[in-house]
Amino acid sequence: MTDSRPAAVVVLAAGEGKRMKSELAKVLHAICGRSLLGHVLVAAEPLGAANTAVVVGHLREQILGHLTEIESNATPVVQETQGGTGHAVRIALDALSEVTEGTVVVLPGDVPLITADTLQRLVARHAETNAVATVLTAEVPDATGYGRVVRSADGHILSIVEDRDADQATKQLREINTSIYAFDMGKLRDALARLTTDNAQGEEYLTDVIGLLVGDGEVVASVVTPDHLETLGVNDRIQLAAVRRAMRDRIVAHWMREGVTITDPETTWMGVRVTLEPDSVIHQNTQLHGATHVAQFAEVGPDSTLRNTTVGMGAKVIKSHCTGAEIGAGAAVGPFTYLRPGTVLGKDTKAGAYVEMKNAKVGDETKVPHLSYVGDAEIGERSNIGAATVFVNYDGVDKHKTLVGDDARVGSDTMLVAPVTVGDGAYTAAGSVITEDVPPGAIGVGRARQRNIEGWVERKRPGSKSAEAARRAREQAGPAGGTMTSDTMESASPTGDQTQHDQGADE
Ligand code: UD1
Ligand code: CA
Repeated sequence: MTDSRPAAVVVLAAGEGKRMKSELAKVLHAICGRSLLGHVLVAAEPLGAANTAVVVGHLREQILGHLTEIESNATPVVQETQGGTGHAVRIALDALSEVTEGTVVVLPGDVPLITADTLQRLVARHAETNAVATVLTAEVPDATGYGRVVRSADGHILSIVEDRDADQATKQLREINTSIYAFDMGKLRDALARLTTDNAQGEEYLTDVIGLLVGDGEVVASVVTPDHLETLGVNDRIQLAAVRRAMRDRIVAHWMREGVTITDPETTWMGVRVTLEPDSVIHQNTQLHGATHVAQFAEVGPDSTLRNTTVGMGAKVIKSHCTGAEIGAGAAVGPFTYLRPGTVLGKDTKAGAYVEMKNAKVGDETKVPHLSYVGDAEIGERSNIGAATVFVNYDGVDKHKTLVGDDARVGSDTMLVAPVTVGDGAYTAAGSVITEDVPPGAIGVGRARQRNIEGWVERKRPGSKSAEAARRAREQAGPAGGTMTSDTMESASPTGDQTQHDQGADE
């Protein structure tokens, strides 16, 4: 197909997009992680055209800014006033005045579902038939609003008639013009120069070029798209949602064919830059955005949103929100976990329920199981961060770093006030506020010692239910019964699987 490489591609994107009711230019609205215009340019890319011109008008600064980001080689063409599709192509070819021959492909900037395959088929047919124009047409269930393709009795294209200029008989035709064409450059220039504005909209219609060329006795060919959805243009946000769904279906189907299990395609959304390995599993209500990657045997979802996040082999991410995170092989994340940029979880780590992390490196096999904030931290291997630990990284002015070594056990409800270091094999006592480094192997205890005031409730809250219960307990214990001492109270504190014992007596 390389022998039929077009000399130019012209993308039309100057229209107002009024029905979007948006401050954002229509072609900049994104579906599946890429702008409408971006999708069109990506589809046209494999044609290998030497020149690409994009015609802009309304909200042109926005579009031009975006264009330099995504396709800096494109030639921007400013159409000051929207004089019609014919006018738009005419000024685009003026901007490409050095291109004097070859094929020019014209397409609108708002048809994101168009595929490279279909465009290549159009260009190939154009070359095979020696046509001066080849129109991509579509059979649609409802042709209202579209230009109709009028053919002769023997099936040759005669002209394209716009909906507003069509008589009743023409309106019955179901074959429409998709606004995607291949033209011979010279013949197109010649016909564009002859366009008039003698029509219902007072515009230069590109579609009139077809009738003119047929009148000249030239060959005009056509390709009917097998799937008319491919050429669906976006004019409002309902159509935007429709093309987004269709694009999602396409992406999801692609990954299923590549060996990914997607348990509920209808509620799974992913962008065009996402990559998935075979035998990964994506569960319902999951959204994968940006350059997210999920490795083999990993499971993501249900109810998870990942952006620019990598999930290592066999890792599990359940009901979580992750952005800019690296999740190591075999790691367990969620439910209800928020991983922010710079989070790097090692192999077989855990970031459990209600854990938020940011700019945190977590070594292999380290666990942060519950209710913690880990920010600006580096934690070694095989360490455990007790429930409700907070890495206090912000003093109101600057962010500071916390280091935790290997095989450390940070007790539940520890405040690690950065900058601070907890050494290898060190512990912190539950409930501690750690403001000074804890050396390797030491336990840091940073809290007030507990003191019990015996009989306080019965004296100070007489008649209350608590006093009643206290009295019963005292009576059951009998005169010789052991009242709880401060020591036993301490070890009977409600515990989880974290380091929560003070063992302050051992200091
Ligand atoms: C056009 C076709 C119609 C076809 C339909 C398919 C014409 C006259 N009609 O109609 O046969 O069925 O597309 O969707 O071509 N644009 C410019 N500058 C302009 C006018 C338009 O850049 O001065 C751009 C628009 O931004 C859009 C594209 O050209 O991307 C098509 O224009 P639009 O106004 O949507 O044409 P339709 O009326 O939909
Ligand atoms: Ca349109």
